[in-house]
Amino acid sequence: MSKLFSSLSIRGVTFSNRIVLSPLCMYSAKDGLPNDWHFSHLSTFARARIGCIFAEATAVSSEGMITPFCLGLWNEQQKNAFKPIVSFIKKMGSIPAFQLAHAGRKAGTKEPWRGGLPLDLEDEKKGYGPWNTIAPSAIPVADGWKIPKEMNENDIDSLINSYVKSAKLALEAGFEVLEIHAAHGYLLHSFLSPIANKRNDQYGGSLEGRAKLLEKITKEIRNNIPDRIPLFCRISAIDGIENGWELEDSLKLSSILSNSGVDVIDCSSGGISGRPRFAVKDNGEMLKNNIERGLGFQVPYANEIREKVRIKTMAVGVIVDPVQAENIIIENKADLIAMGRELMYNPFWSLHAAQELGADPKYLMWPDQYRWGVNRRAKIEKFSNVK
Ligand SMILES: Cc1cc2nc3c(=O)[nH]c(=O)nc-3n(C[C@H](O)[C@H](O)[C@H](O)COP(=O)(O)O)c2cc1C
Repeated sequence: MSKLFSSLSIRGVTFSNRIVLSPLCMYSAKDGLPNDWHFSHLSTFARARIGCIFAEATAVSSEGMITPFCLGLWNEQQKNAFKPIVSFIKKMGSIPAFQLAHAGRKAGTKEPWRGGLPLDLEDEKKGYGPWNTIAPSAIPVADGWKIPKEMNENDIDSLINSYVKSAKLALEAGFEVLEIHAAHGYLLHSFLSPIANKRNDQYGGSLEGRAKLLEKITKEIRNNIPDRIPLFCRISAIDGIENGWELEDSLKLSSILSNSGVDVIDCSSGGISGRPRFAVKDNGEMLKNNIERGLGFQVPYANEIREKVRIKTMAVGVIVDPVQAENIIIENKADLIAMGRELMYNPFWSLHAAQELGADPKYLMWPDQYRWGVNRRAKIEKFSNVK
């Protein structure tokens, strides 16, 4: 019996299988509004009966968008635009999930297929940015990036309110899982990491200080949402940079988050210093980023946090094969498997994996509209010997 295709209940929500569509920015929105592209993209994975479907990183305020084309959720119009997508995901038996994000000092960039670097005069002429960015300290991501404004206590209070407001709107739109994005060098990660946070007030200094903003946001969200809603937090388990955030820090943070109302730690890594995969030591020597991006390279973080902190984890990163995914769950290395690029490449991966692993149809089935045709196709293959 496949464990990848077994259900999992967290608080009041039951996932029909352990496969999760990882949040995937599409950089295809206007004014933060989801449109037919987002419907088409996310509904594909609902037809594939993925257990839980994350919408892409969605900014809690306009200055928190990575690009001018990111999704946002701070008003009613945006909320209403999410509703048909959420409703379709539920109709197909999947759980719609929402990632609350603020890009911080990495906001205001071009789409990755135009280089992903900060917006420039060319973009401004077209009416897109650039805009002022915010961060724990006035330290840019790298050369050529904007110097962000160091946030004061008022900025921090208003940020916390934006997170809570956006979380409530997401639930009103029908989402059933919330995730706080505290990874990949964006605002909340930049508070956590000693690379980007040089503050000496209550939000800086020790790990507890650097984690305070995330802790406050988590508690405020948890206090303002129903008990039945699972709350995830995506972290960069390591910075992969000398003097940066380490796995030991993630263990301590996971414990703080667990006590603040987080149910699942979603274990990613990296991103604090922007695009380059190589960091430079003080003496100018190139330091290879120690994050080797091989098969399942982040699974050990999910495993260790799960074991030592006794909290549920989601593994992500180059999980591509059904048996690989199955083994992660069987060996109790993680509770959920998030997948991104492989699902974009092969959107019905889950349906093929279910077949390969001999999954109980109770946990995953081709939709009726496809099943009769797909079964017939199998018969034709059998008769004609075509594989
Ligand atoms: C096109 C694309 C967009 C992404 N957007 C997001 C995002 O919105 N939020 C996020 O936390 N990670 C984002 N990521 C990272 C993925 O969610 C995932 O963690 C990463 O791709 C590793 O998983 P994979 O090897 O299965 O693709 C993105 C990755 C890609 C390729």
